[in-house]
Amino acid sequence: MTALAITINGREYPRTEVRDDLTMNDFLRETLGMTGTKFGCGAAQCLSCAVIVDDPDGTSHTTPTCVVSAASFNGKSIRTVEGHARNGELSPLQKAFVEHFSFQCGYCTAGFLNEGQVLLERLARQPVSRGELETTIAEALDGHICRCTGYIKYHEAVRDVILADAPRYLAANK
Ligand code: FES
Ligand code: FES
Repeated sequence: MTALAITINGREYPRTEVRDDLTMNDFLRETLGMTGTKFGCGAAQCLSCAVIVDDPDGTSHTTPTCVVSAASFNGKSIRTVEGHARNGELSPLQKAFVEHFSFQCGYCTAGFLNEGQVLLERLARQPVSRGELETTIAEALDGHICRCTGYIKYHEAVRDVILADAPRYLAANK
């Protein structure tokens, strides 16, 4: 057993005893009732279960939760799909997903949303040129499986958010 201390969407949770074989996906969905994080393949192949990890150096990355123990998140700060909206208003990326009809069943959406958000945060720190943008988005979203085949619409939605705030995300004069 591990006494898990974790921050989720900015909220510190009281230490919770978890079995060492409990996955992070089960901890979120079954223990906390946060079912926005999905369970797809269960084998680290589809990334529908991905959440954001906020690293101490101010960077962020995504990780699957289906094959990773909850105990391994001890002391970490993560974000899930439930944390993107603010005061009832969807984030720019969420709005773009809706406007582009990016998803159909929505099973993959939380994973794409978290990956897209990590990309936005990376570009805000390290902008790329307009010429590099399409490849950058494609590489960032690579590995996320959408069984309803919304890939292009996710890509277009992420691109729209970036181009709407180009001075923030794109390098000037390239
Ligand atoms: S459910 Fe975790 S990668 Fe598919
Ligand atoms: S919208 Fe159905 S799996 Fe992507």
